[in-house]
Amino acid sequence: MSQISFLNGKFVAASQAKVSVYDRGFLFGDAVYEVIPIYQSRPFRPQDHLDRLQNSLKAIALKLDYCDKYWHALIDQMIKKNNGGNLSLYIQITRGSEIERDHVGRADTEPTVLMMVSPLSTEIASLTPIKTTLLPDIRWKNCFIKTTALLGNVMLKQQASQAGYEEAILRRENIISEGTTSNVFMVKNGIIYTPIANQYILAGITREVIIEIAENASIKVIQQNITVEQLLDADEIWLSSSSREISPVTQIDDKIVAKGTIGPVTAKMHQLFQAFKRRLTGS
Ligand code: PDD
Repeated sequence: MSQISFLNGKFVAASQAKVSVYDRGFLFGDAVYEVIPIYQSRPFRPQDHLDRLQNSLKAIALKLDYCDKYWHALIDQMIKKNNGGNLSLYIQITRGSEIERDHVGRADTEPTVLMMVSPLSTEIASLTPIKTTLLPDIRWKNCFIKTTALLGNVMLKQQASQAGYEEAILRRENIISEGTTSNVFMVKNGIIYTPIANQYILAGITREVIIEIAENASIKVIQQNITVEQLLDADEIWLSSSSREISPVTQIDDKIVAKGTIGPVTAKMHQLFQAFKRRLTGS
């Protein structure tokens, strides 16, 4: 069955979802986005994703008159029209299409709204260890905006990939920010640490859920600046995102983490995360 997308008020076959080359998303990266995991036809924390989407829209002063109720209905329709199951739902809003290329957008331009789905691999729940590399964070200083202007992230992830690593962990001077597509957690003496959600990182929804379920299980979580030295001295490290859930890090460049295995706190958090998902889907 071919997939169904949503474009500017209409549901269309994915292959028919087309936008103008004059779209500001294409010309300037003038757009924001969200990625929402769908587990067994249920969206994961949709309101959190919609709140973050509103924050991103507000940060770039893009006005869109879709209320939350309408968004929830659209998400439900996208799931139904694509036969449910495990999906990754992508939402993108650009400042729209304007025939004259001008950095300053016109106030009366209609935003472009796109939703599309792709299969969500069930492998993300399999706790697969990954190797990472530490790279300087070359991105701008507004990383809290989930913008499609991802050239810095793309360059860094490509650099990591070409060197044989799954993901790059980024540092600003000596302070860890995040991964190119993920948030960073570390464990030291049974306590979980993660960088503060400031302008240098995207406040991940998965990150938020992990903090919440750890605290509910009486595992201490501290949000603070993490130095490169502290990260390299950690007992355990993992990365989190909507498309990977929890990925244990067993290597940062030449440094082996957690003796190359999956540490006990990582395993526990993975177990709690799966239980949380099961409660959501009622399975
Ligand atoms: N990215 N930091 C960055 C830079 C990210 O791109 C992402 C996710 C995260 C984690 O956020 P969340 O837990 O809400 O998925 C952190 C998505 C998955 C992407 O770009 O495809």
